[in-house]
Amino acid sequence: MTDTLPESAEAAESQLAELREQIDQHNHRYYVLDEPSIPDAEYDRLMRRLQAIESAFPDLVTPESPSQRVGANPVSEFGQVTHTLPMLSLDNAFSDEEMLKFFQRIADRLKLGAQHDELKISAEPKLDGAAVSLVYESGVLIQGATRGDGATGEDITHNVRTIPTVPLRLRGANLPRVLEVRGEVFMPKAGFDAFNKKAAERGEKTFVNPRNAAAGSLRQLDPRLTAKRPLDMYAYAVGHYEDGALPPSHYHTMLQLREWGFPTCPDAALVQGVEACKAYFKALGNRRESLPYEIDGVVYKVDDYELQSALGKVSRAPRWAIARKYPAQEELTTVEGIDWQVGRTGALTPVARLHPVFVGGVTVSNATLHNIEELQRKDIRVGDTVVIRRAGDVIPEVVSFVPERRPRGAVRTELPKQCPVCGSPVKKFADEAVARCTGGPVFCRAQRVEGLKHFVSRRALDIEGLGSKLIEQLADDLVEKPGDIFRLTADQLAGLERMGEKSAQNVIASIEESRHTTLGRFLFAIGIREVGETTAQNLAEHFGSLEALRAATEDQLLGVDDVGEIVAKRVLGHFKDPDLARVVDDLIDAGVQFESEPGDLGATGDLFEGMTVVLTGTLTAMKRSEAGALVKRLGGKVSGSISGKTSLLIAGEKAGSKLQKAQNLGVDVWDESQFLKRVDAFLTK
Ligand code: IVH
Repeated sequence: MTDTLPESAEAAESQLAELREQIDQHNHRYYVLDEPSIPDAEYDRLMRRLQAIESAFPDLVTPESPSQRVGANPVSEFGQVTHTLPMLSLDNAFSDEEMLKFFQRIADRLKLGAQHDELKISAEPKLDGAAVSLVYESGVLIQGATRGDGATGEDITHNVRTIPTVPLRLRGANLPRVLEVRGEVFMPKAGFDAFNKKAAERGEKTFVNPRNAAAGSLRQLDPRLTAKRPLDMYAYAVGHYEDGALPPSHYHTMLQLREWGFPTCPDAALVQGVEACKAYFKALGNRRESLPYEIDGVVYKVDDYELQSALGKVSRAPRWAIARKYPAQEELTTVEGIDWQVGRTGALTPVARLHPVFVGGVTVSNATLHNIEELQRKDIRVGDTVVIRRAGDVIPEVVSFVPERRPRGAVRTELPKQCPVCGSPVKKFADEAVARCTGGPVFCRAQRVEGLKHFVSRRALDIEGLGSKLIEQLADDLVEKPGDIFRLTADQLAGLERMGEKSAQNVIASIEESRHTTLGRFLFAIGIREVGETTAQNLAEHFGSLEALRAATEDQLLGVDDVGEIVAKRVLGHFKDPDLARVVDDLIDAGVQFESEPGDLGATGDLFEGMTVVLTGTLTAMKRSEAGALVKRLGGKVSGSISGKTSLLIAGEKAGSKLQKAQNLGVDVWDESQFLKRVDAFLTK
């Protein structure tokens, strides 16, 4: 689709016909089938294009054009509800400049002059769910409706009644006789994930995103089905009311609603002026991934009701509110190829090579398809137009393909029979979702190189200056196995391309430094499958020496914190495998030494007594392993993963999925400063 406007009315007419057809089709998928095939950003573009052509050729606007209708056609199965006051939509701002213009317009209209920085604004998450109107008479819920086209919605009373947090009867004093409350019904992320997981296990239809899940659930004909969906609701406005009074501002009305029994969003805030609005947007953006619900922006509302009515509305949107959007996290692009990457454990990861696309704030040209099972379930093919999702710092992934745009003749993607790197047979075990190269780290170059990169990485032996590029250069010649790193000389390094004498000496110096390491780091570095940093540390402390660990039986291994049957078998298997055992022996030959492990330091307190603690993210005052040792000294157990058993998560900077999971499970979370303060207070008491 081109951005330039058509030159003739004929050209415009045919483009309009095509756009209208497409948009109608997407509307149907979105509103009626609850199964959209394209991301919102793409839909918005089609709509904007339609509007642009229509405003250049106003004679061609027809009453049936999708541009003339906002929202959905109410579906016949549900009764219709005419909203007493229309349910408005919001104008969008996609940049700070657009938001500034919004403030400027308000300041001009209200003739605020320089005082506009004192304007009180309610800043709230723009929840990604479905808008509802709830009508109460004498405090009793009598009607629930969707927004529909803003004027008329569908009667979904039977369904909203099943949502646990929607009050059926209000409490407290001074209730208006009639009260219409508006809000967003949404599916919290945790509930969405759990629901989709179960649906996939049963081979049932999964939802594309939480918003769709909420909208689809509300439009079930059988309320028993809705009742099974994990839905929640936050109130965000009052619509129509009779015989009663409300506080004079939005923020205080929200507090009043809370007293009457409505859930309201805990992350909303009252701020003053443009700068505070920008700061709110940024701060919420940083928390976006870890919020328990999905959002796509921030809604700013002029707080004072008198000012709101002075500002009024334009067509379907109020002048006193605006939605500032975050960059779209989902976009469309095409798959130019599908490659297989071989990881350190031989796992084959399919990676989609994409036509570059701007999504989630960056340009993406590769996206993971995770593993063969997922690839085949999603049935992604070369040539497909796909939805790419990049949320926060998470690696971009391919969500789905657009069936309407699949090229004819596109072939199903099959698992390669041989490793694309070493040619060894590829094997897929039934109990794993991934397929693996059977070549092993000695034979397969990819496994070897990835293993070496892991070995020198920061949390393993932490060899500064020995980065991925250098490893690639060394792996074919000077370094075949990790032990060879310790046999390198400065002369050999200086002979490499792009390597000066000084840097060669620096690299050798840091290799020397890391020759003296700890058993915990060593065990993590050698890359035993399923043994992460924490388990490695637990093994080291439990057994105290490499010899003792190598001599351990399965039962003894099972006695270590965090070690279950799978891990125990992996540890035994690693040392039994002659190739892998030789790599370990060779490291000792090459002169790697361990400091004696702190082992059982003798408990010094009980701050964490009986608690299972997980550490995540980057800590600034100490290393994560040191913080872990501290937790243990103070009576706690340290685990590598969040589960129902976790008592506490200590989250450093850039904490990601563990933080989210902890919040979803309601696990206590401390940031680094809380952790330090508590430990300090405990040790000095
Ligand atoms: S206020 C006139 N507040 O955004 C103001 N809407 O594009 C109307 N939404 O249909 C809505 N979070 O579904 C408001 N905190 C919030 C919201 C919010 C999400 C949705 C709502 C509405 C759409 C408007």
